Amino acid sequence: MKGMKRPILIHPDPRLKKVCAPVSDLSDDLRRLADDMLETMYDAPGIGLAAPQVGVLDRLIVLDCEKDETKPPQPMVMFNPEVLSSSEDLNTYEEGCLSIPEQYAEVTRPAAVRVGWLDRDGNPQERDFDGLWATCVQHEIDHLNGKLFLDYLKPMKRQMITRRMQKLKRERARA
Ligand code: NI
Repeated sequence: MKGMKRPILIHPDPRLKKVCAPVSDLSDDLRRLADDMLETMYDAPGIGLAAPQVGVLDRLIVLDCEKDETKPPQPMVMFNPEVLSSSEDLNTYEEGCLSIPEQYAEVTRPAAVRVGWLDRDGNPQERDFDGLWATCVQHEIDHLNGKLFLDYLKPMKRQMITRRMQKLKRERARA
């Protein structure tokens, strides 16, 4: 089902620093939110989006890290996602975030993770992720705990990017 685009919050915003609440009842409203988030993510375009980024403090993320445009999209909707185990191997990717537009930095995370979640029908799922999928799912789950990729950077770099975002927000507010 096609969702409706929602505005994406830009860092710094207190809603991006909150720990989100677990979802207990998969209502139609929550499924609609998931559809809206997928629409918002594809439109941006991005490969992942967490509910707090559209101002909803529920544990819900969506992602699609299929970069090959000749292959069908692989939209994933995860309620209450949880990292169950992580590899000792690490991987460094240049990360970005739809709430921190056009800013990128290298972040090192476990190279592979096993994740558990509830799908859109409320059924428990479990799967191993590696490569870009592993980075993305960890980045999105971080959002549900009020954590941004900036929090992995040295304070100087974090402050520099935050100041750029404050400026961007002032410019957008004036426009
Ligand atoms: Ni992000």
